[in-house]
Amino acid sequence: MEIGTDVDRAARLLAAGELVAFPTETVYGLGADASRGDAVRKIFAAKGRPSAHPLIVHLAPGATLDGWATDVPVAARALVAVAWPGPLTIVVAKGPRVDTATTGGGATVGLRVPAHPLAQRLLGAFGGGVAAPSANRFGAVSPTTAQHVAADLELAYILDGGPCTVGVESTIVDFTRGRPALLRPGGLPREAIEAIVGPLADAGDDAPAAPGTLASHYAPRAEVIAVAPDDVPAAVAANAGARIAVIAPRAAFAAWGPLDAQPVALPDDVAALAAALYATLRDLDAEGVDVVIAALPPAAGLGEAVGDRLRRAAGPRSRQ
Ligand code: TXA
Ligand code: MG
Repeated sequence: MEIGTDVDRAARLLAAGELVAFPTETVYGLGADASRGDAVRKIFAAKGRPSAHPLIVHLAPGATLDGWATDVPVAARALVAVAWPGPLTIVVAKGPRVDTATTGGGATVGLRVPAHPLAQRLLGAFGGGVAAPSANRFGAVSPTTAQHVAADLELAYILDGGPCTVGVESTIVDFTRGRPALLRPGGLPREAIEAIVGPLADAGDDAPAAPGTLASHYAPRAEVIAVAPDDVPAAVAANAGARIAVIAPRAAFAAWGPLDAQPVALPDDVAALAAALYATLRDLDAEGVDVVIAALPPAAGLGEAVGDRLRRAAGPRSRQ
């Protein structure tokens, strides 16, 4: 396993049908040539991910959508014109350059142009679409550093772009089902999207199989309990005897007074909190904490994505 900043080496691996982990502004991705089924199947094997779960295809800034999508609605074009490069994925009808292994056999594809400079250099050097899920084992917390990737996966090369600045995965908006629908809140806040395309529909019951929509996703080893800030002291008391950490914005701790738990103060600004969240969960696992009690932020801005991930981390564990 090697970690480095050699973009050309990473691009050559992609061209040879091999896997490469690379940074994006949201989380690290595990990339393969999106046009090659043999390459993409290595992603599912490395992650232990069911092959019916579709992958996002990453494109370089300014790349044409022709070939990657067959029908991009006007609303989607208007949105990506302002939101790309950035933490937004659009789901549209797939084009012929996308292998069906990438879409999990489906007729739609998730497309995204990332903002991270190293991701952009890699996509430019490679010249095609790069299918990439988050570079973690299926069900685990997404990696926000190259070292997180190395801890989870055995890979030939990890492109190191430092810590991710957004820290939660991209927002996914589905344009294939009438009114645009929010499939996953993420790094681009709902408010910014609705300002351009109008009110978003909910994913609803007919949402396609998506691992990000499984209740048990994004979970560390420790048990996670996600509650409103006012309910944190009671949750600590209810878990007396366990090794407990409380994660919350710094300002919240002043309101509670002393707690019988390890205090983990995160930034008060929710965007900075989002950037620190996954690394914090991984650190607490490494320290051997049994129970993480997390204060849910207000749902505005990035708070919607942070709350979504904390609730899923707290959801029932169905992973083996
Ligand atoms: O920020 C991100 O989105 C990161 C970076 C690496 O780009 N990627 C990421 O990929 O989070 P992944 O595979 O861990 O999560 C992508 C989500 C999954 O829930 C997947 O099912 C959904 O996107 N998805 C991908 N293509 C889809 C499609 N055609 N229809 C519906 N959902 C789709
Ligand atoms: Mg993932």
